[in-house]
Amino acid sequence: MRPGNHQPFRDMLPEDVPRPDTNPYVIAHREFGDEIVPGSEAPALREKWPEVFGRTAPLHLEVGSGNGFYLAGMAEQHPECDWVGVEIRFKRVVLVAKKLRHAGLKNARIVRYDARALDTLFPPGSLAGVHVNHPDPWERESKRHHRLIDRDFAELMTRLCAPGAELRIKTDFEPHVKALLKACAGLPWEVVGVRTDVDAQGSIWGDDVVTNYQRKARVRGVPVHAACLRRTANGNSSSSAAPPEPQPDPQPRSAES
Ligand SMILES: C[S@@+](CC[C@H](N)C(=O)[O-])C[C@H]1O[C@@H](n2cnc3c(N)ncnc32)[C@H](O)[C@@H]1O
Repeated sequence: MRPGNHQPFRDMLPEDVPRPDTNPYVIAHREFGDEIVPGSEAPALREKWPEVFGRTAPLHLEVGSGNGFYLAGMAEQHPECDWVGVEIRFKRVVLVAKKLRHAGLKNARIVRYDARALDTLFPPGSLAGVHVNHPDPWERESKRHHRLIDRDFAELMTRLCAPGAELRIKTDFEPHVKALLKACAGLPWEVVGVRTDVDAQGSIWGDDVVTNYQRKARVRGVPVHAACLRRTANGNSSSSAAPPEPQPDPQPRSAES
């Protein structure tokens, strides 16, 4: 299933679950409270995020929030922005929500949704930043069609991001960084920076939060790769698909180099 050519995301409803004890979070995530937006309710908010947060502020998206360290940490660091995390797994949605509530954050929500269907969650040009941390690697070649990062994802991000928005990725699976750089070539993005080892080379952006999977990679001694791209104005696109070499001292440049 492709982000630009997807079936509408169909949420699992409580009545779809014959034995709620097999996954109590299907019901629990609906009963949690304001921090969680269930998937069945999310598309109705597509044009209404300012109403949800009670203000108009730069809107940031985190894709695949996992346990929620990054979403909660960034929302805390940036009270001037609003934050939406999208996570497909029910239990993780609740874990994220608990972190948001514990920190008393009013500028963040977690949505139980499929990151391939983000067109139905946000209008074009509405995002001020997108943060992708350790997307599932699907390492085996036979499973690579499950990988989130591809040309369709890059085109989806191009539609949703406003000029000036940053698209940030961190991962211990280097092919994801290379795939994102390649997928953004020819689209209106410039490369801000690339890292092959965030711990050794330093973060590209100053306001980072270590995620759960980033911490696990550290424990295993596996380097974490990162890249940051900035959305340029429409029509100002790069043309080549060649991924750039890592830049120790990043300067903004076209995604083609
Ligand atoms: C490897 S974990 C990383 C979690 C977290 N970002 C971190 O760095 O610790 C990938 C996360 O993406 C979520 N995920 C996978 N596919 C997704 C999709 N299509 N839509 C939303 N979330 C998804 C998984 O449920 C999981 O929580």
